[in-house]
Amino acid sequence: MSPFDRIVDRTGTESLKWVYPRKVLKVEDALPMWVADMDFEAPPAVVDALRLRVDHGIFGYPLVPPSFFAAAIDWLNRRHGWAVEKKGMAMTPGIVPALNYCVRAFTRPGDPVIIQTPVYHPFYYAIENNGRRVVRNPLRFDGRRYTMDLEDLRTRIDAPGRMIILCSPHNPVGRVWDRDELEALGRIAVERDLLVIADEIHHDLVFRGHRHHVLASLSPELAQQTVTCIAPSKTFNTAGLATAAVVAANPDLLKKFEDEAERSGFDLGNALGIVAFEAAYRHGEAWLDELLPYLEGNIDLIAAFLAERLPEIKLIRPEGTYLALLDCRALGLAPDALNEFFLKRAGVYFSDGLMFGKELEGFVRINFGCPRSVLREALERIERAVRSQ
Ligand SMILES: Cc1ncc(COP(=O)(O)O)c(C=O)c1O
Repeated sequence: MSPFDRIVDRTGTESLKWVYPRKVLKVEDALPMWVADMDFEAPPAVVDALRLRVDHGIFGYPLVPPSFFAAAIDWLNRRHGWAVEKKGMAMTPGIVPALNYCVRAFTRPGDPVIIQTPVYHPFYYAIENNGRRVVRNPLRFDGRRYTMDLEDLRTRIDAPGRMIILCSPHNPVGRVWDRDELEALGRIAVERDLLVIADEIHHDLVFRGHRHHVLASLSPELAQQTVTCIAPSKTFNTAGLATAAVVAANPDLLKKFEDEAERSGFDLGNALGIVAFEAAYRHGEAWLDELLPYLEGNIDLIAAFLAERLPEIKLIRPEGTYLALLDCRALGLAPDALNEFFLKRAGVYFSDGLMFGKELEGFVRINFGCPRSVLREALERIERAVRSQ
């Protein structure tokens, strides 16, 4: 038995994932497979480090120790072949806050910001809630796989406010962008003076046959106009500890980012988040190397189950992350009816595809970061509901 097979009851921990469908949507026994955290315990080394810190009993304002950045620097070097320096890094309470700081720091009200849709919905909010304009550079979809439309991207770059928020690997389409695609995007960015905010939070969650390429590592010129957002929070399931980092080789960009974070009142971090961040990057590697094949096994289960028993629903096979799109268009249900069907008839709660963009009408996003028995139960529930339609 894999340690990831163990079912850990999250009741009583005020988990957003588990509470929302029950308390807000009032469906008592729906299996929650939506917001992006996993139903797995963090690596034992992370839990031990937190326990030690908790045992101390005093949780006053923390400093960020040099070892915090050193752990991330070692990880990025070892795992991603990317050499970064502490002077080019800053802590942030999360990637979503960092995206908001970037929008405010690098653009002015009314400016356009490009995103590659469909995409993680807080990208839209970071732009719109700060009074900027979303400019869509829709991904291409051949019915099976998504690719970037770089010809279209060229036509979207406009003055002023040349900025793009890149999602790499991409949530929710599950692409781990190839080096060629990223190099082509990078060339356009350099030629056209396009600032890239690279959200690489899913950088470690990459499956066999694929490799994550850090955009900023592709050329020194590109590094000068990229702000990269990283965190151990998706990889090691510590999102509730609200601690992440940005990397910017260009000191002007880093300074502007830090000034904006300060204007937002963010200065000191989360005492426990700092400990978990460092422990995860320092001691989490063996755990991650066990997690990845487990997640891949879950994808194989979804793929085989759908192919054999539910061919109406198609898996867009992800190359990374623990999130996958299900193309449910063949069920012929309108968007509200589709959500209602999964939640009330099947008893599973997925993310509505439309949340990520109008391109995903008829799709849902499943979070398969859960024990395999739970995933199997979810698939069987869907099968029963479809067959009794
Ligand atoms: C692409 C992407 N960026 C950011 C986040 C969330 O980042 P944080 O919790 O650090 O704000 C997520 C969570 O799912 C994500 O998928």
